[in-house]
Amino acid sequence: MKAIYPGSFDPVTNEQIEIVNRASDFFDEILIAVMVNSKKKYLFSLEECSWLLKMSFKGNPKVKVVTFEGLLVDYMKEHEYKAIIKGLRTVTDYGYEAQMALTNKNLYREAETFFIHSEEKYSFLSSSMVKEVYFNGGRLSTFIPEHVEDALLKKV
Ligand code: PNS
Repeated sequence: MKAIYPGSFDPVTNEQIEIVNRASDFFDEILIAVMVNSKKKYLFSLEECSWLLKMSFKGNPKVKVVTFEGLLVDYMKEHEYKAIIKGLRTVTDYGYEAQMALTNKNLYREAETFFIHSEEKYSFLSSSMVKEVYFNGGRLSTFIPEHVEDALLKKV
């Protein structure tokens, strides 16, 4: 079965990479969909986020990356996806993720969301936190891959 892993990935973090790699043990294909979260202000463009993701999964042939602006369920219907993968870091993620899962289910009855719990060591990690640490001169080597850190350096 193929599955879709949607998110903003601005930029991708080690927590998200770990979720996709673990999910790829259970699904035949994982399509990472770089999408627009209307509540967020982006640092990288969708194309830049997508390129950073492609570089992160060079070694995993089951993982593909697309960018899409619009409703996730519209993409899923058009390309015949029924499974959505989401990572859960802490209990505070659950409220937000449950709301999205139920919205998607109400818009598309066949959509099922599969939650994978993040490793404890990444339970604090988010793209926003990465940017916060970066803009304040902190070390990022355990949070993001080297090519993402290079992209941040070039960007700002
Ligand atoms: O990484 P994020 O910001 O938590 O990802 C949220 C995202 C991009 C998956 C969500 O905002 C989304 O699905 N956006 C596309 C529009 C959509 O389908 N909205 C309805 C479901 S909430």
